[in-house]
Formats: sequence, C-alpha cells, structure tokens
Amino acid sequence: MAAERTLILFKPDAVQRRLCGRLLTRIEERGLKIVGLKMLQVTPELSREHYAEHVEKPFYPQLEEFITSAPVIALCVEGPEAIQVMRGMMGKTNGRESAPGTIRGDYGVSRQMNLIHGSDGPEAAAREIGIYFSDSELFDYDPTLAPWTC
Ligand code: PPS
Repeated sequence: MAAERTLILFKPDAVQRRLCGRLLTRIEERGLKIVGLKMLQVTPELSREHYAEHVEKPFYPQLEEFITSAPVIALCVEGPEAIQVMRGMMGKTNGRESAPGTIRGDYGVSRQMNLIHGSDGPEAAAREIGIYFSDSELFDYDPTLAPWTC
C-alpha cells in the first residue's frame, strides 16, 4: 500500500503540559514514520495561512490567539492511510466528545485546547506540509531496524 503523508501539530497546550513525548510515542508505537519534526512559534500570519478556511468563522480570533500563545511542534508523519489513521488516533475536535483511547479523549476536555492538529484530507495534507516544511526538512529513510548490536 502506498505511503501517505500528513501534517501534525502538537498544539501549545500539548507543549505547555509536557505531553509531547507521550503523543510522539503513540504515533511511533502505532507504526507510523516520522519524516519531519520541528518546534516553531506560529505567527498570526502563519495562523491565517494554515487556517485559511476558518479565518471568517466566529471562532477564528480565539483559535489564532490560542495557536500563537506558545510554541508548537510540527511533524510530518508517513504511513499507509496516515491521514485517517491519525484522525482516528486524535479523536473528535471537542475533547469532551472524544472517546477514551483517543488522544483528545484521554488528555482533554476542551474544544479549543485540543492538543493536536491533523490534516483532514490529501489536499489539506499537501498544502499544510508545504506550509510547515521545506523539501530539505523532510527525510526519506529506511524504517527497518538498524543493526545497532553489531
Ligand atoms: S468546522 O467549522 O466544523 O470546520 O470547524 P472544526 O473542524 O470543528 O474546527 C476547525 C479548527 O478550529 C478549531 N476550533 C476552535 N478553536 C477555538 N475556539 C473554538 N470555539 C473553536 N472551534 C473550533 C478546532 O480545534 C479545529 O482546529 P484544528 O487545528 O484544525 O484541529
């Protein structure tokens, strides 16, 4: 099956609550491959570019205030049907409605501070990966085990 890539953000609340290691572990243990990773501060300009489809919505000012409030960790994650696999792991937007076992269902009760963003489809993934990563920041490597015991 062809590998697919998706853009993931660990949002400011995940960074501030020191949950990034746990979230990264979940992604790696699921069998997905990290092909890009960086910490950055989202600016208002970057927020408007990323969330372009939401800029006119009533909640956008709160969303921008939140996403720019502390650094985020951006990841490009690869694997079979990575977009839907990650959306399933994330759970519903609102943590209160998210099932236990999902990231939002296990760690949050907020709609705004919902820990993680994941692209919602192939077009969004391509656009969002391009916003956060240059080609040279994405890595194509052999995911099989390295012979570290030799
Ligand atoms: S919509 O209108 O149904 O398309 O919106 P939704 O998919 O539920 O959410 C899109 C992103 O906006 C965030 N959001 C909010 N942020 C702050 N305050 C409020 N009230 C709010 N409502 C939605 C939501 O977390 C989504 O962020 P991402 O990063 O895409 O998960």
